[in-house]
Amino acid sequence: MSKRLVAPSILSADFNRLGEDIEMINQSDADYIHCDVMDGVFVPNISFGIPIIQHVKKVATKPLDVHLMIVNPDQYIETFKAAGASILTVHYEACTHLHRTIGNIKANGMKASVCLNPHTPVHLLEDIIGDLDMVLLMSVNPGFGGQKFIENTYDKVRKLKKMIEAKNPDCLIEVDGGVNFETGKKLIEAGVDVLVAGSFVFGSDDPIDTIGKLKLV
Ligand code: DX5
Ligand code: ZN
Repeated sequence: MSKRLVAPSILSADFNRLGEDIEMINQSDADYIHCDVMDGVFVPNISFGIPIIQHVKKVATKPLDVHLMIVNPDQYIETFKAAGASILTVHYEACTHLHRTIGNIKANGMKASVCLNPHTPVHLLEDIIGDLDMVLLMSVNPGFGGQKFIENTYDKVRKLKKMIEAKNPDCLIEVDGGVNFETGKKLIEAGVDVLVAGSFVFGSDDPIDTIGKLKLV
C-alpha cells in the first residue's frame, strides 16, 4: 500500500515571500517540505544552501526533506542536520563510499535516502537497500523545475518496489520531477509513497487545494 505522502518543492516558491509560502505548506495536507540544494557542479544550476534551510526550519511545522544535488555531500552531513533536515537525500552518482555516507546520515539522527538519476538502474541499490529509509527516483534530469516527466520512471518504480518488498519493506519510494495529477496517479499505482511537486503546486491557482488533491490521486 502506498503511503500517499506529498512533498512540495520550494524550488518553485516565490523567494520574495518564502515565509508565506512555507506558511501555506504548513496549512496544507503536505507531509514534508522538499528542499533542493544545487551546487552548480553536480547539476548545471545553483539554487540555495544552508542559510535558507535554517530560515525555512524556523517557520516550518513539517519535516524538511532535503535533496542534495551536490558533490562531496559527506562534508556537509552534520551541517544539514544542524540546519534542520529530517530526511537527507544524497545522489548515488555523487557518492564513492555510499555505505559510509548512509551510516553517517543515520548516525546524525536523520533518515537516509539515496537518489538515482534517470539513467542509473535501480539494481545498483541491491546491496544497500537494506540500509535505506527512502529511495528517490528522479523523473527528470536534476537541476531545474518545470521539466517534462520521463516515462521510463514507471518501470523503474515497479522494479524498485519488488526489490523493496523482498529486502526492506519499510523503505519508501519518492519520485521527483514533472509530477502532476496524471503522472502522480500512475506513480502511486506503480508503488510510489512520496510525490514531490514543485511547479505544479506553486504554479496552480490554489496551491493548498492542489496539495490536498495530490494526496488523493
Ligand atoms: C529538480 C528538483 C525538483 C524540482 C521539481 O532538480 O530536484 O525537486 O523542484 O520540479 P517540478 O515538480 O516542477 O518538476
Ligand atoms: Zn528535488
